[in-house]
Amino acid sequence: MSNLFSSNVFGKVQDEDRQGEVFLDQVPTIDLQGKKSKKMYLESYGCAMNFSDSEIVASIMTDQGYTATSQINEADVVFINTCSIRDNAEQKIRARLKEFKIVKQRHKPDMVVGVLGCMAERLKAKLLEEEKLVDLVVGPDAYKDLANLLEQVDGGQKAVNVLLSREETYADITPVRLGGNGVLAFVTIMRGCDNMCSFCVVPFTRGRERSRDTQSIINEVKDLAARGYKDITLLGQNVDSYHWQDTNFAQLLEQCAVVDSTVRIRFSTSHPKDITDEVLHTMARHHNIAKNIHLPIQAGSTSMLKRMNRTYTRDWYINRIDKIKEILPNCGLSTDIIVGFCDETDDEHLQTLSIIEYVGYNFAYMFKYSERPGTLAHRKYDDNIPETLKTQRLNEIMTLQHQHSHTSNQKDVGKVFEVLIEGNSKKSDAFLCGRTSQNKMVVFPKTEGIEKGIYVNVLIERCTQATLLGKIVD
Ligand code: 5AD
Ligand code: SF4
Repeated sequence: MSNLFSSNVFGKVQDEDRQGEVFLDQVPTIDLQGKKSKKMYLESYGCAMNFSDSEIVASIMTDQGYTATSQINEADVVFINTCSIRDNAEQKIRARLKEFKIVKQRHKPDMVVGVLGCMAERLKAKLLEEEKLVDLVVGPDAYKDLANLLEQVDGGQKAVNVLLSREETYADITPVRLGGNGVLAFVTIMRGCDNMCSFCVVPFTRGRERSRDTQSIINEVKDLAARGYKDITLLGQNVDSYHWQDTNFAQLLEQCAVVDSTVRIRFSTSHPKDITDEVLHTMARHHNIAKNIHLPIQAGSTSMLKRMNRTYTRDWYINRIDKIKEILPNCGLSTDIIVGFCDETDDEHLQTLSIIEYVGYNFAYMFKYSERPGTLAHRKYDDNIPETLKTQRLNEIMTLQHQHSHTSNQKDVGKVFEVLIEGNSKKSDAFLCGRTSQNKMVVFPKTEGIEKGIYVNVLIERCTQATLLGKIVD
């Protein structure tokens, strides 16, 4: 998965890559018939999938009579939905847990602190017993057990449920929408991952891959469309391997697209070994399927891809890119890249640079390899690229990618794009912002009567490396 960000879903979003706001007033309060409600504070780190899981947790907790608070000091329960993908994500969360511990010790001894998600799965009892940082540890497949677990904690015990499931998809839970400003929403279509990329901890923290009932997905998309949402991202670790009974991913995509032609459908993340021409043709047939594909390459050489256990070669990836460019000539492309993976040679690094040149991505998430305990790479290879070399290589790929992002934006100057307005621009209330089908952010002056959730045509007049700037045209 990509799109890494961390958010306090009831307040600020702190991000590795971007900043945003989510809205407390979208969290429903329920009628407790005079009873005083308990308050929950929930902070979420990691990928979009985690953010979507937090919306499921919020729904389950709302059913238990909890209301949301953005103030830790007011909270009866503090949850942190965690990410294990790289060591620095875990370190950030550990530091946060220490802060929660201080609040608890000094101000609120009864406050319950719970770790949810991937770190819960990875560290299990360690967080409870050795470090005594938390009262509750709940893995990503055990959120329906939250009420029982909270009862155990109320009874003076610590509580853990990190069982992974082969079936749980939370298809029957209606998520409480925590972010997205009433315009953007995530819909999880599958969970887990069976791919076993050698660097990745996700198959261990999120378990086996399973797809969600197609009808429950369509119902969720219909409900969102009826409530005015206009940009829906279908989420899974590996969306192209979606299958439920006879429905594959291309068919699911089509069924989502026909729900409402004014709602844009996006998806993330695709695996290069699985993305089919059928998906590309489906995208071409429907104007409202966003013309943007996030296709993580990870590394540009066949030898490195083999060590990473990605199960495709450089040529295979290039063939997929060529097909995308042929079937969808205006498609935006983005990727994930890891530098400094075990035994990476200068030549392998050069091949990663050359694939960036070849594809011309709009955008890339770029990371230094971070060894994760228990993964195939940890068992089989040495994390032997010195930190200074990792940093140097990361800088090289970032410099090149930033040039490409800028060039890609420069090519859009003078063109008109259909932009879905997401709200005011971050820098000034006199400007609006929104995204193109290709997932590029556009900023333009406000016009009377034009507001979030509306599509407008914008002529691009200027650009930076990250943003297109223009004006509304008819
Ligand atoms: N070290 C660095 N980056 C990683 N990713 C996954 N595991 C690791 C790791 N151990 C990156 C991959 C993936 C993205 C979500 O995070 O690029 O696509
Ligand atoms: Fe991790 Fe690979 Fe699965 Fe993505 S496809 S979640 S990188 S194991």
